[in-house]
Amino acid sequence: MEKRAGCVTALYPGTFDPLTNGHVSIVTRGLSMFHTIIVAVAEDSGKKTLFSLKERADMAKKVFAHTEGVKVEPFSGLLAHHVKNTEAQVVLRGMRALSDFENEFQMALMNRRLCRDFQTVFLMTDYRWMYISSSIIKEVAGHGGDIRGLVPEHVEKKLVKRLQEKNREQKA
Ligand code: COA
Repeated sequence: MEKRAGCVTALYPGTFDPLTNGHVSIVTRGLSMFHTIIVAVAEDSGKKTLFSLKERADMAKKVFAHTEGVKVEPFSGLLAHHVKNTEAQVVLRGMRALSDFENEFQMALMNRRLCRDFQTVFLMTDYRWMYISSSIIKEVAGHGGDIRGLVPEHVEKKLVKRLQEKNREQKA
């Protein structure tokens, strides 16, 4: 199924510290259901990030620069407030293992409490990306492990460079 469907715009929020091939897969598959996907890079996710908001958004922009129907936008504050300021009708989330369910359920219900029109749509993550997360990729790369194929090529370069800088700073 190659075609882009419907006229619905979906907002795909996340920390994307950094964007992985698992995230890319959700966006790519989402394009068979949604006309436009806004990759919304969150400033406030309760996580201490390795990359700044601008860096995370810039990396995602580069990945999707040639993908029709994908926009990348940073946002701050509550997702439920932000979504009202966009043209999105639904929020798209990826669901990996059972462990994601509880957190996703909690967020979806809280978001609906904050905004009655808030609808969350879930896509099961492709089995190839079930076990990855941004943190595990950062951990492996931080110890010199091979992360090829888990993140887009230019994300890999940025990540390795940033982790080397961090290691040097820690040793100094
Ligand atoms: N493939 C691979 N990895 C995936 C994945 C996929 N399809 N989907 C998610 N992940 C990984 C992410 O890389 C992330 O890894 P990390 O924890 O190591 O960083 C992890 O799974 C969780 O990602 P995700 O579920 O997308 O959550 P998030 O923390 O990136 O994003 C926000 C959460 C940004 C949506 C949420 O914090 C938010 O809405 N923030 C705004 C403030 C707000 O409204 N808060 C109240 C919410 S009710």
